[in-house]
Amino acid sequence: MLPDVRRATTAADRTAAYALRREVFVVEQDVPEDLERDELDESGDHVVAFDVTGACVGTGRLVIEGASHGRIGRMAVAGPWRSKGLGAALLAELEAIARERGLRSALLHAQIHAERFYRRAGYVRDGEPFDEAGIAHVVMRKALTPR
Ligand SMILES: CC(C)(COP(=O)(O)OP(=O)(O)OC[C@H]1O[C@@H](n2cnc3c(N)ncnc32)[C@H](O)[C@@H]1OP(=O)(O)O)[C@@H](O)C(=O)NCCC(=O)NCCS
Repeated sequence: MLPDVRRATTAADRTAAYALRREVFVVEQDVPEDLERDELDESGDHVVAFDVTGACVGTGRLVIEGASHGRIGRMAVAGPWRSKGLGAALLAELEAIARERGLRSALLHAQIHAERFYRRAGYVRDGEPFDEAGIAHVVMRKALTPR
């Protein structure tokens, strides 16, 4: 069964999310550790999913940028849980938070390999690929219509 996705509410939730991000981005994808964690972690909203053993197996982050749009990022699902819909559920929860905050659009820097994942969720590519942390990315945007 797919783990529930919920908002991170405690320091322990965030610590678990950061540990999963380290595993996925720093260990698996070779992103430099000092780029992976940044000051936006403090102000951002985080979502988390825990498996039955209590391990964090999914996370993502929303950062408010200006009055009307939010930036989604640091989307990570533990290897064994990928391609089961958990990433889509994390993304939907981040968008729900953005709507609650009155934001009208979401922007993200998608790794090229994950472009299809975001396109399925309604994101549209905006511009040409560029390098970020040694990985090719593309800007993608989505209008957040009220529900
Ligand atoms: C990207 C990620 C968060 C998606 O989470 P997920 O739980 O696998 O996503 P879902 O199960 O909801 O959707 C899976 C779909 O996304 C796409 N997708 C996700 N990762 C992909 C990859 N590495 N290569 C190609 N397609 C990918 C596919 O269309 C896939 O569908 P399929 O399994 O039917 O082919 C997860 O794969 C992950 O953590 N990857 C490593 C970290 C990363 O790259 N994060 C994104 C940074 S922009």
